[in-house]
Amino acid sequence: MKKKLTFLGIETSCDETAAAIVQQKSNGSAKVLSSIVSSQIKEHEKFGGVVPEIAARAHVENIDFIIKRALKESKIKLSQIDGVAATAGPGLIVCLTVGLNIGKSIAKFLNKPFVAVNHLEGHALSPGLEKKINFPYLLLLISGGHSQFLIVKNINKYKQLGTTIDDALGEAFDKTAKMLELGYPGGPIVERFAKKGDKNFFKLPQPIINKGGCNLSFAGLKTAVLRETKKIKKNNQFKYNLAASFQETINQILKKKTLVAMSQFKELTKKNKATFVVAGGVAANKSIRESLSLVSKKMNFNPTFPNLKFCGDNAAMIAWAGIKRFNKKLTDNANTAIAKSRWPLDKSAPFMKGPGLKL
Ligand code: KG4
Ligand code: ZN
Repeated sequence: MKKKLTFLGIETSCDETAAAIVQQKSNGSAKVLSSIVSSQIKEHEKFGGVVPEIAARAHVENIDFIIKRALKESKIKLSQIDGVAATAGPGLIVCLTVGLNIGKSIAKFLNKPFVAVNHLEGHALSPGLEKKINFPYLLLLISGGHSQFLIVKNINKYKQLGTTIDDALGEAFDKTAKMLELGYPGGPIVERFAKKGDKNFFKLPQPIINKGGCNLSFAGLKTAVLRETKKIKKNNQFKYNLAASFQETINQILKKKTLVAMSQFKELTKKNKATFVVAGGVAANKSIRESLSLVSKKMNFNPTFPNLKFCGDNAAMIAWAGIKRFNKKLTDNANTAIAKSRWPLDKSAPFMKGPGLKL
């Protein structure tokens, strides 16, 4: 039997101000009592992307209210909280600092433990909010800032199999949307436009498809989209077709690279059967979900996608990662709880960006 625990989670790493109250029940499963996410889309859409100073100011303006709402909705009093978890990285330092400082202050005031959470670990463990998943499992983490294949061996124990050598997948969706003048954030709009187009209309490149293991690359694809947008007048049918061809190319790349990652996972873990988790904002994409479900079946993996509300940035996943770390006595103090712009889950993984990279 596990100890019943109630944690406050805070997330301010990018453009979402979020707070949540999550409980670990005595059977070890999670119960989300509240999860409040305030998106700053309105503030950033005129710039077609996140502006760090504007994001930080919005976090400062909203965070008190969001935490109060999370408490109110959960019907939990601050005095009933057993611990506080806040995202400490990776992300924009000016943004991270807002949530981290308020989280540390609340923990200090309550004299309760504080956990500085890696945002990527939040995404990695997010399926645990809904069901128990056995370690080790294979994870594809696809978000606005990251695209990685990892073996999740346990809490705080990760082996990176592959990562993007240039843009993140969410970034590629956002930039494609910007080039097609569809607005921000791009992922959901590109997905919607793609449904109306001909996926075979444009032949777009699939960078490093036959090399580099399960590492990923999207920069060449982005450039090809830019080239097409410059050639033809941008009427709606053109946009539908380019969005559909882009989505299809992404599906093909992820399919191939997932097959490679699954083979590597089986070889390294000596397991023939496991769970395949796809997490992060881009995991909301239905077409990607369908295509990767098929790959999973073929390779004897059980595909798992978090509920849409836990794919994008949220604080429930941060509270949950905080609880899981607290169970392992991985709590933080003033010296360890510092904001980090770069914070890989697998510290031994090679840095895969920059000139001279050999695949
Ligand atoms: O995980 P997330 O909320 O924030 C980061 O940690 O980066 O991911 C945000 C990213 C954005 O790039 C957004 O365009 C993308 O997730 N996204 C999608 C979809 N919904 C959100 N990409 C493709 N299809 C979607 N339906
Ligand atoms: Zn994220």
